[in-house]
Amino acid sequence: MRGPSWLREPADPNALVPQLWSSTAHKRDGDLVVGGVALADLAAEYNTPAYVLDEEDFRARARAFRDAFSAYDVFYAGKAFLCTTVAQWVAQEGLHLDVCSAGELTVALRAGFDPARIGYHGNNKTYPELRRAVAAGVGRIIVDSFVEIERLAQVTADLDASVGVMVRVTAGVEAHTHEYIATAHEDQKFGFSITSGDALEAVRRVLAAGGLDLLGLHSHIGSQIFDSSGFEVAARRVLALHAQVSSELGVTLPEMDLGGGFGIAYTTQDDPSDPAQLATEMSRIVEQECRALGIAEPRLSIEPGRAIVGPAMCTLYTVGTVKPVALDGGAVRTYVSVDGGMSDNIRTALYDADYSCTLASRASQEPPTLTRVVGKHCEAGDIVVKDEFLPADVAAGDLLAVPGTGAYCRSMASNYNHALRPPVIAVRDGVARVIVRRETEDDLLATDVGAS
Ligand code: LLP
Repeated sequence: MRGPSWLREPADPNALVPQLWSSTAHKRDGDLVVGGVALADLAAEYNTPAYVLDEEDFRARARAFRDAFSAYDVFYAGKAFLCTTVAQWVAQEGLHLDVCSAGELTVALRAGFDPARIGYHGNNKTYPELRRAVAAGVGRIIVDSFVEIERLAQVTADLDASVGVMVRVTAGVEAHTHEYIATAHEDQKFGFSITSGDALEAVRRVLAAGGLDLLGLHSHIGSQIFDSSGFEVAARRVLALHAQVSSELGVTLPEMDLGGGFGIAYTTQDDPSDPAQLATEMSRIVEQECRALGIAEPRLSIEPGRAIVGPAMCTLYTVGTVKPVALDGGAVRTYVSVDGGMSDNIRTALYDADYSCTLASRASQEPPTLTRVVGKHCEAGDIVVKDEFLPADVAAGDLLAVPGTGAYCRSMASNYNHALRPPVIAVRDGVARVIVRRETEDDLLATDVGAS
């Protein structure tokens, strides 16, 4: 078995590929150590599966965005992963917060996050949700439909309040990413189309409504994007509309948001830019474009989620079974089953995402063998890592760690097959701290009315 063409057989299957791991991760005699904590010790104390969050790494990535984009406001996109502790880290590192649901807003407010520094997204916010956000003092609401503009105007009238608003626009860009996470092409549910004229009409209606304080336009082209040309085309189209608002409606919008979507390395195929490179490129694009249009640069904001939390987390599993399966042509695929799966990481099944992994609890002298790491769910598509070289003697009881699971794994985790969602354990300076506890069977049964 050779696996996909991008996957190289490693000389030493014990070695970590550093760019896939959080900054403090290293091997010590075969033991994977993160945040100064040997993950074998962590597993002994907290069991597996478990998400392990490298606090220092998370904070460093948040700071790197804040510092590289010092002239911008950086909103951490909480949909990637949010709990009260992480919301507090985000606040401490000086970032703003993007929430996209009532639940995320609840977590942020419970964490004591300054509501004025929160941006609230969503294509179908209800009157009660908008009312609560305005009453809580949320700084900006990103409106996504004409009916929402009316709803929000009604809320501000009912509360005799006003609120900052951004208009989400679609720039008509084909972002090179999975269809389900691309959001700037025309045929999808988000935003107002620039091409059709809806975006300009939305701006008019927000300006005409009482209580809505229009801050600017918002564009998010999609997620896990590496190629800056998509951002460039989008920025150009959104700035053109920004200029049109000024020339036709006589209103200079003070701000503009270019969204998130910066890609990370899940495997050796991916080569992401760092925040400083991104900042240089994006600032250059905006500066050039504003100069060409003869307009002042608006204050910019961005919303990275994955690029901050993704690489900061890994998932720790225990191997339960190893099964060689004969394939056509005499090849054999080694299926390694772990104690989690699509309930804690749906991304492989949902987006055909690639991941990697390493043996975390011992060093092996055996040669590398190509494996497929699968979960324990009742579904053949329950794959965690499609292709990875592991030492040939990988066996039940070994610990495996999958890097890059911070973004959209816990936040999209499910109770499929009544799995208990794993805990999130923060590690730092040799200390492990549970920040989201493991679910229990009581949690599972808590909503089952017949069970009580
Ligand atoms: N801003 C807006 C308006 C967004 O819709 C998103 C992501 C972000 C920021 C953050 O994007 P990031 O920097 O994290 O790529 N579940 C999918 C990703 C869905 C992203 C939805 N919106 C996945 O697992 O890849």
